[in-house]
This record gives sequence, C-alpha cells and structure tokens, in this order.
Amino acid sequence: MSPQVAVRWSGIGVWDRPEDEAVLDAGERHRSTTIRHPGARARFVVAHATLRRLLADLLGADPTTFQITADRTGRPRVAPMTRWSISLSHTHDAVAVAAGRDVEVGVDIERLDRDWLPPLGRWCTAPEVAACRAPGTETGPLAVRLWTGKEALAKAAGVGMRMSFHDFGVLEPTVLDPRPRSGRNDPATGAIRWLDLSPRHAIALAILPVALEGGVRSARRLPSRCG
Ligand SMILES: CC(C)(COP(=O)(O)OP(=O)(O)OC[C@H]1O[C@@H](n2cnc3c(N)ncnc32)[C@H](O)[C@@H]1OP(=O)(O)O)[C@@H](O)C(=O)NCCC(=O)NCCS
Repeated sequence: MSPQVAVRWSGIGVWDRPEDEAVLDAGERHRSTTIRHPGARARFVVAHATLRRLLADLLGADPTTFQITADRTGRPRVAPMTRWSISLSHTHDAVAVAAGRDVEVGVDIERLDRDWLPPLGRWCTAPEVAACRAPGTETGPLAVRLWTGKEALAKAAGVGMRMSFHDFGVLEPTVLDPRPRSGRNDPATGAIRWLDLSPRHAIALAILPVALEGGVRSARRLPSRCG
C-alpha cells in the first residue's frame, strides 16, 4: 500500500458541542479538565474529536476505539495503528488535524492576521527575509505561512521548537533538509505544502519519511491524496 495522508480542519466559534466530548477517551477528558481557560479547553476538545473522526473515516471504525497518547516529547501517537502517524494544531478560532500512513505528518494552523511573531531575522533564512520585505508583498500573511511550514515540519520530525527555524528554508524548495538540532532525528528530506482550506488561516502540512515501529520506511513517493 502506498503512503496516504488526510487533513481536516474545523472552526470553533461559540463552542457548545457535547458530541465532541463524547468521542474522547478517559485520558483526553481528564486532560481537558486540567485546562482552565475555556477557549483553550474548547480548542483541545474540538481538535482531539476532529482527529478521532478523521481516523474513524479513514479506517471505517468508531471514533471512540482509538487510544491516543503523547510520547515523552508531547508528540501524539495513536494505537494500535503503528503504521499511522497523527498531528494536530490549534489556533484561537480553529483547529487542524492530519493523519498519515507510512509517513510522519505534521500540521500547523495559524490565523493569517496573527499580530505577533518573533523578528524575522531570528527564525527566517536570508531569502525568506528578503521575500517578506519585497516591495508589494504582504509581509504579515507571508510570514505566517512560513511560520506554519516550519512548525509543521518540526512536528513531523517530532522535535517541536527544539528545531532551529533559522537553519532551514520553506519558501522555495518543497524538498528540504530540516537538520533538527537535537541529533535524535537524522537529517531527512521531506515536503511541505500549504492547503487552501480556509481564507482566514494558513494551514501547513509537512510529510517526512518515517521510523515507525518496525523500522525505517522510505517515503519517496509522496501521498497523492489530501482530503
Ligand atoms: C510542538 C509545538 C511546536 C506546538 O506548538 P504550539 O504552536 O504551541 O501548538 P499547536 O496548537 O500548533 O500544536 C499543539 C500540538 O502539538 C503536538 N505536539 C506537542 N509536542 C510535539 C512534538 N514534540 N512533536 C510533534 N507534535 C507535538 C500536540 O499534539 C499538541 O496538541 P495537544 O497538546 O492538544 O495534544 C511545541 O509545543 C513544542 O515545541 N513542543 C516540544 C516541546 C519539547 O521539546 N519537549 C521536550 C520534552 S523531552
């Protein structure tokens, strides 16, 4: 079977969706009760419920049957489907989730009008800074897209913000060498794509070859289906 990737997003709005809580497992429900801020709690519940429904649709299973845990770095994993990687992201008013078979996926969502990011020079390569400052360019939305691409790749690599965003570019090449800082993950080539699912958000998906249980699998043929 060839690699397969699927992505889904959901707006949050005024949140009153008991049906989302109903599909979570005991661990997720417990985690949600530890989140004090109502908005953050809603984002957590909607993200995890959306991810469960995506997996259920992909596998023809009930959304409550999956065990979703986090490894010691915080990276989510789903059992017992060891061929599948999962990723999720929340921003103020929306969530995005992804699942990939035989690849590592990372997803990130941010509002295009996000009003704060670190100074460009601290996390962008020189060509990225130049592109953001080019005359006629809407700097803010482009910077947000670059940021989501880098976060998505860092999640696919399982290293989060420990990866130096300054060390790799996501603007020009779709195939890149993320060179994670930690040394735990070997350098790997991967692909980033931005999905036009929402007019108000940047949603980036990163796809990397995987080292799932059972050994390293090559993922040269990138998934052809995003749904
Ligand atoms: C991953 C990270 C970049 C997320 O950033 P963010 O913009 O605050 O949040 P997002 O909403 O986009 O993503 C949050 C999701 O990322 C996922 N995530 C957390 N750590 C992750 C990691 N190491 N790899 C992949 N995904 C991770 C989680 O699923 C989390 O959602 P959840 O808590 O609801 O399950 C950030 O949390 C991070 O850098 N984590 C790593 C921390 C770390 O290095 N820990 C080392 C401990 S040994």
